[in-house]
Amino acid sequence: MLKGIRLLYLLATCLIVSCASEPTPRACAANNAASLRDAAQGCSLSIGAAVDAKSLRSDAMYKQTLSREFNAVTPENAMKWATVHPTRDKYDFTDADAIVDFATENKMLVHGHTLVWHNSLPTWVSAGSFSRDELIAILRDHITTVVGRYRGRVAAWDVVNEALNDDGSPRQSIWASRIGPDYIEMAFRWAHEADPQAKLFYNEDKAESMETKSNAVYNLVKNLKSRGVPIDGVGLQSHVTTDSAPKLQDVTSNMNRFAELGLEVDITEMEVRLKLPSSPEDLNAQARVYRDMLTACLSVKQCKVFVMWGFTDKYSSVPSIFPGNGAALIYNESYQPKPAYKALADLMNRR
Ligand code: XIL
Repeated sequence: MLKGIRLLYLLATCLIVSCASEPTPRACAANNAASLRDAAQGCSLSIGAAVDAKSLRSDAMYKQTLSREFNAVTPENAMKWATVHPTRDKYDFTDADAIVDFATENKMLVHGHTLVWHNSLPTWVSAGSFSRDELIAILRDHITTVVGRYRGRVAAWDVVNEALNDDGSPRQSIWASRIGPDYIEMAFRWAHEADPQAKLFYNEDKAESMETKSNAVYNLVKNLKSRGVPIDGVGLQSHVTTDSAPKLQDVTSNMNRFAELGLEVDITEMEVRLKLPSSPEDLNAQARVYRDMLTACLSVKQCKVFVMWGFTDKYSSVPSIFPGNGAALIYNESYQPKPAYKALADLMNRR
């Protein structure tokens, strides 16, 4: 009798609290696809990697693997201010053009990154002493020129990147402090004018889960939406570790609340860094984190693009940014697929 009651209680809790919202990845059409991109297509998903123009030029294996396995790219650094707009009167599109041309040849979606950020600024901007009006004119010219150049060829833009601190407060970047909070709205409107077809994203770090920072992102984009600012999506960067990985359930709930605002919600910079040297157990734990994030994405219809911050450990930026860490991506340094590759492939080769 007592057992029966307990069972009933468990069932009720399960229905109310968790079972009802258990993430269910959408059906995929492939079951033995030859590549991640073929498998992803069967899930109505674009799967991509951040790309570095230098490796694309110099490493045939890099280029071959990229075009075989992925149908989306994000220029890792080639479209940032310091690269593309090194001096006030000079734009340099060499690397960005190389990536966009490569993507076009290989029928890959390009996710442009990034128009407004506090990092990777050339000194003429970061150390310049411009008035508010001058800085507004500079930002407008930059956005209009960069977005305009790739009109029709870059499907989406990270218009504003990392505008918030980890506690959810507005980051006092040069843009926020010299222009004021309106810079965000201005940037979206100018990007939209320059390419009305491009999807415009707000991209943020450490906002995958349900917590203070993602609440702040939610409030920010909800406010933009409610005022008719042309924003189409939110990018969750997802630079995580195996210890600090967000819970599948939380990521799904978080994605769903953005989706309910009418926004697309993509994974834009996924990587799972490990302490070096990594063990086989670490690689398996890493694979589970990749699998969970893709499960979350596949369980939310508005998650349409899943981009990793590179694909081979050979060129990962992790060791330089987090000394002692690395092995964050799905191929090792000699282009051998790691358990994480298989985890993603298995999840997408499932009807
Ligand atoms: C990083 C690149 O990977 C590095 O090569 C570069 O030196 C610094 O920027 N969030 C972002 C990315 O939005 O643009 C950053 O990329 C990683 C964190």
